[in-house]
Amino acid sequence: MSFQLLLVAGVLAVVSAGFARRSSECNLPLLVHENLGDLPQEFDARTHWPHCSSIGAIFDTGSCRSSWAFAVMSTITDRYCIHKNQYLNISTQDLMTCCQSCQNTQGLPCQDGPYTAAKEAWCYWNTTGIVTGSVYDSKSGCRPYNVTPCDHYESGSLPICDVSYHGPKQVCLQECEAGYPTSFAKAKHIGGKVYKVGYTTDQIKAEIMSNGPVQSAVVIDKAFTMYKSGVYTPSEAVIQELFVKIIGWGQDPKQGEYWLCTNSWNREWGDQGTFKIRLGKTGTYINDFVYAGMP
Ligand SMILES: *[C@@H]1O[C@H](CO)[C@@H](O)[C@H](O)[C@H]1NC(C)=O
Ligand SMILES: *[C@@H]1O[C@H](CO)[C@@H](O)[C@H](O)[C@H]1NC(C)=O
Repeated sequence: MSFQLLLVAGVLAVVSAGFARRSSECNLPLLVHENLGDLPQEFDARTHWPHCSSIGAIFDTGSCRSSWAFAVMSTITDRYCIHKNQYLNISTQDLMTCCQSCQNTQGLPCQDGPYTAAKEAWCYWNTTGIVTGSVYDSKSGCRPYNVTPCDHYESGSLPICDVSYHGPKQVCLQECEAGYPTSFAKAKHIGGKVYKVGYTTDQIKAEIMSNGPVQSAVVIDKAFTMYKSGVYTPSEAVIQELFVKIIGWGQDPKQGEYWLCTNSWNREWGDQGTFKIRLGKTGTYINDFVYAGMP
């Protein structure tokens, strides 16, 4: 069943039933913030934790449809900085190729995972751990990303992405790049606690304010691919699902309240790689797929 059909069938029921195609072991507890305190009208995690530059980092999936892995990786990376003052990068490559329960039934890591991919990724971090990594063509980290950046929909300076690429050559390699100073096992970082957040806007805001950015997902239409600024309002004409990171919220005088998110289509797309999406209205499923954890 496709992601869209599942959405139509009722996101809440599906998510809370915890269906997973390949693994049924992953049941994330719901974290509830009891004391919501004073929630400000605007919040931006980048300015709240200015020493954590990872919060505003914009990644690039390349032609690989691995937004689920990037959204989870960058949320985890932020939380190492926020909670442990550790400036490390978690490896998208390791997560994408080695987490089998995250992959679709053909086991192709570069195709969209099942809609449960991101949830499974949180469990994977909590049990197996994820090694350090970095962006394409970077020599830092145990397992850097190995798919080249490209222009997804924008006409920018990069080659156009190849939509037929499904990454058959992507394999789980349990060793670090030559020259990396520690072993693969030593480069693994295991989560301390993983959970589901939500489903209300106030719960999600409280989580972001107290613990940092969170991972979520959106369903997008064609207009989203051309997004440049303003507050995006989804339509019914869904073309794909996309996993993203929520880093804050705000209030637009004309377009109302929004979530501020980072996408993984590089900085040439959208508003320097970020976008705002209408908050708290039907048609945005973003509140229903929020997961996070603690290092
Ligand atoms: C995450 O790991 C901790 C520590 O091993 C464990 O107590 C907890 O149940 C795990 N959480 C999930 C959702 O698997
Ligand atoms: C983490 O990634 C960022 C952005 O790609 C880079 O600037 C930084 O040097 C990396 N940090 C480490 C410790 O590898």
